[in-house]
Amino acid sequence: MRILIVYTTRYGTTKKAVELTKRLFEGRGGDVKVKRTEENPSPANYDLVIMAAPVYRDGPHWDIMEWVEAHKGELEDVPKAFFLVAMHLAGSVFMGKLHGGIAYSQPLIDAFEIPPFYGTLIGGEIDPEKLSYDDRRKMVRFYAVLGEKLEKKSLFKEKDVEAFVRRTLLYYDWFGKHFRKGGLDKVRDFDFMEKVREIEGLMG
Ligand SMILES: Cc1cc2nc3c(=O)[nH]c(=O)nc-3n(C[C@H](O)[C@H](O)[C@H](O)COP(=O)(O)O)c2cc1C
Repeated sequence: MRILIVYTTRYGTTKKAVELTKRLFEGRGGDVKVKRTEENPSPANYDLVIMAAPVYRDGPHWDIMEWVEAHKGELEDVPKAFFLVAMHLAGSVFMGKLHGGIAYSQPLIDAFEIPPFYGTLIGGEIDPEKLSYDDRRKMVRFYAVLGEKLEKKSLFKEKDVEAFVRRTLLYYDWFGKHFRKGGLDKVRDFDFMEKVREIEGLMG
């Protein structure tokens, strides 16, 4: 399977997650190319495209959104999955609205007619000493909103990246491969619970 991983990073956590993702896909027989958004890779001629980006200012980093915008047409024709690297993983309801957590993914869903078939969040890292002056000020505010202080912390776990790769391949097989132009009809009636019952049946 030909896989393209497109990513952006500012402080390197997403890069670390991407490198592990590449190794894990390769371990499962994938032929993997990794490109930064700046290289502006074409998503044509791949079986699967993985988009990876950190969350900044309440959404996927703008570089990945710009890449998506630039390749929208081609991307409708290839199955897509993504992970976002973030600190506010659980998310919350803030003043009556969904905030953070998986809600950070919305722009990556709305950008397409045929959406990514799978996506998730991976825990990020913050080291105040490495942040630029500007980013440090922003992060002080970010944590103030959560009622916390800015301090060094890591939520990054290799097992979350492993789960991402495992589930991406599983769901690709179940329905993801049909998430392309002209293919969605094949999985319109896919029923997740039926699949679970089928697996239960196989397990006896
Ligand atoms: C200026 C700035 C803004 C951020 N905004 C958010 C945010 O809105 N939500 C969140 O969950 N994490 C936020 N983060 C945390 C980053 O997503 C986290 O540090 C991530 O690991 C950065 O990935 P990178 O090293 O690949 O750039 C922010 C970090 C910085 C420095």
